Amino acid sequence: IHAITSIMEDKIFGESGNRVIIEEFLSGPEVSILAFTDGKTIIPMVSSMDHKRVNDGDFGPNTGGMGTISPNPYYDETINKYCVENIFLPTIKAMNNEQRPFKGCLYFGLMLTKNGPKVIEYNARFGDPETQVILPRLKTPLIDIIEATIEEKLDSIEIKWDNNACACVILASGGYPGTYRKGLPITGLDQNGQAPNITVYHSGTSYVNNEFQTNGGRVLGITATGKTIEEAIRNAYSGISKIYFEGCHYRKDIGNK
Ligand code: GLY
Repeated sequence: IHAITSIMEDKIFGESGNRVIIEEFLSGPEVSILAFTDGKTIIPMVSSMDHKRVNDGDFGPNTGGMGTISPNPYYDETINKYCVENIFLPTIKAMNNEQRPFKGCLYFGLMLTKNGPKVIEYNARFGDPETQVILPRLKTPLIDIIEATIEEKLDSIEIKWDNNACACVILASGGYPGTYRKGLPITGLDQNGQAPNITVYHSGTSYVNNEFQTNGGRVLGITATGKTIEEAIRNAYSGISKIYFEGCHYRKDIGNK
């Protein structure tokens, strides 16, 4: 009732809140599967798990994503087979039937409910921060896959993945996903915006007067690989320790199941 009042009466989302759709409540572990598709063939990428709530323990409001790991510990080969047959292939078939063939990266936001995997959302793009933990594991050149997608030859390409693991922790502005300040100096990055032993993805930064500054809610995605998920998580968190901006907030439990 509170949510509907804010959306429909207080109009927190403007006119787009004039109509609401009430759907089945889904609970269970979340899985993000991104897939390459040329409209005929669909090839799922390695799995990942996003953490959408702002605070540790999955408390607080939803965000665009506070951190990810890949692979997703809940997503095994049996579940993948089920999803390919019952979700991924039927999706592209249905889009073709509706004369809306889709080529590119299709994002399946799945919930592993007690009644099996269900789709909670689709996106027609790479996910953020899923991509930060998926692409570092890709061994085949991305450009070859994109060309095969455009030319509808995905069935003739073998996509190879590294057997390692990857973790990404988002450093967010204080107050995000509510109001937050911008323009705060970020320290601990070199002149290329990087730091030792990690890859720093810039989500909401600007480069002003020879320094990196905050310029968004989700500011940096600190990403590291490892032989195991535990090692990747350790490497990501130890890379964060020297990076600082006022009000910086990040979850300490990325990767916890
Ligand atoms: N991480 C969720 C999204 O990209 O929509």
